[in-house]
Amino acid sequence: MAGKNCILVVDFGAQYAHLIARRIRQLGVYSEIVLPEGPLERFKDCSGVVLSGGPASVYEKGAPTVDKRLFSLGKPVLGLCYGLQLIAHLLGGSVKRGCVREFGIAELAILKKEPLFHGLGKKETVWMSHGDRVEELPPGFEVIGSTADCENAAVADFSRNFFGLQFHPEVTHTPNGMKMLGNFVFGVCRCEKDWSLRGFVEEKVAGIRKQAGEKNVFLLASGGVDSTVALALLSRALGKERVFSLHVDTGFMRKNESASIKKVLASLGFSELKVVDASDDFFAALKGIADPERKREIIGAKFVEVQQRELAGLGLDKDKWLLGQGTIYPDTIETAETKHAAKIKTHHNRVPIIKAMIEAGRVIEPLAQLYKDEVRAVGEQLGLPKGLVWRHPFPGPGLAIRCLCSERRGNAVPKGLDAKIFGAVKGLGFSAMALPVKSVGVQGDARTYAHPALLQGKLDWKAIEKASTLLTNGFREVNRCVFAVAPQKVVSVEPLKGFLSRERIGVLQEADAIVMDAIEKLGLLGEIWQFPTILLPLKVNGKGETIVLRPVESTEAMTARFYPMKENILNEIAEKLLALQGVGAVFYDVTHKPPGTIEWE
Ligand code: XMP
Repeated sequence: MAGKNCILVVDFGAQYAHLIARRIRQLGVYSEIVLPEGPLERFKDCSGVVLSGGPASVYEKGAPTVDKRLFSLGKPVLGLCYGLQLIAHLLGGSVKRGCVREFGIAELAILKKEPLFHGLGKKETVWMSHGDRVEELPPGFEVIGSTADCENAAVADFSRNFFGLQFHPEVTHTPNGMKMLGNFVFGVCRCEKDWSLRGFVEEKVAGIRKQAGEKNVFLLASGGVDSTVALALLSRALGKERVFSLHVDTGFMRKNESASIKKVLASLGFSELKVVDASDDFFAALKGIADPERKREIIGAKFVEVQQRELAGLGLDKDKWLLGQGTIYPDTIETAETKHAAKIKTHHNRVPIIKAMIEAGRVIEPLAQLYKDEVRAVGEQLGLPKGLVWRHPFPGPGLAIRCLCSERRGNAVPKGLDAKIFGAVKGLGFSAMALPVKSVGVQGDARTYAHPALLQGKLDWKAIEKASTLLTNGFREVNRCVFAVAPQKVVSVEPLKGFLSRERIGVLQEADAIVMDAIEKLGLLGEIWQFPTILLPLKVNGKGETIVLRPVESTEAMTARFYPMKENILNEIAEKLLALQGVGAVFYDVTHKPPGTIEWE
């Protein structure tokens, strides 16, 4: 597909390359991802090249790089973050290693507007996430924009059409980032708009027919947006009678969810659906397991086992069927699927057995290049009802990854940490302590596993946000912050032993139902992008376990902001939650992504 009107994005890991490619496609220009290795020929036909960000350091042994002759092809090149550092490194400049780490929002002062900052102001808000920085510019380059902490934040060699940005124009937290990318794509590379999701659907339908040949598809349907859109797309290509779907009730679904999926799919005319209750299998396999990644592996493997058992039971010939999955791009990238991505989490549709099947050509995943909002657009195009297409995303392993488990002793808070973090936020009117649990986070493109800090004080979202940023930036032992909603005064926190039991999942199902009902009634389902409810094995002030509310605003899950809820609504929800048996406290997650992931594990 690469050709004249196409931008190639070189993938140096993390999530950036796909996000960049997707932004360019949103601009109406086709964009494809390529790995750094591989022949130079690939670049000869394209309109321009973007070198993405990534977690490596250019001087590191084995750091990914490109063939230097790329810079002699006469193609425009835009380097972003790691991409910029690589340009500097390869063309005779120098890069300094992680002196000041910079994460989050910065202000860019623009020195030269044309062509990259065409139509923008003198100052622009930009989003940074880097340790290394360019120290000396290569010959021919000059500075076109700086931030307070980074002089070489935007650079250019106008004669060769090479540009570099230390920040990330592709994330939504750089408000005018799309304009910058547009200026590169249209102004520098001279591309024309000629790509759309409609074209994608047509191409996919043809692609599915070709891949499936005479085979039918056996699709794992969770009932969520992705698998339902995959079902609709596969059915469009092959006909409804050739797509058979199986819904496995793992026991970790939302309250009454599995029962309603059958109804919804039947109402859409997809009647080839079988629901299997495999919850006994799942609970048994996860007995005594606390490690988050182990939980995912076991759930992923069980999934395939149940599905294979069902297939065998149905007497379907393995050689006549393909396995269908509604995998979308973020599910693949965060599992270190692409060569240079740092591993953050394993998604259940990328566990080893499934990977082996993918390599054997036995899996069909029509949405694997798309982001959530692109999937939704495809769903609407295929005529699925809006209510279904705009449902909140729900992870494959379901409530299992929202029910934190603990053997009790592993997560003790390091000595002295409480005093340090308390001292750091005292001036902002909060008290703080670290919690004896750990959750997953993402910082500088890599996974972290650290303690949440608990903030207590007045509910003032702005001040809370400040305190939260201060703690997660300032202390490596802290990657997330929560605010104490109820009780307001926490005097004791005791870690409990807790695993995935029917009882604990039951509590979480009830809590989740209370939360989802409340926001649906209040019409907040659109404003809040996703709303995980989490159960922590913590006894607060001698009572029960602890619920954490984690509503976020986002567009594609790569970055997110915590959602500041109105106090009266929050109190109403908290009151209902505290009335549940087994719940003793309600906390509110006040961490953006990064540094916290949306889910806790
Ligand atoms: P994080 O927690 O990484 O989540 O910020 C980003 C998005 O991915 C979803 N998610 C998952 N989906 N299997 C899935 O199918 C998983 O293991 C999984 N983990 C996270 C998460 O709900 C959010 O929308």
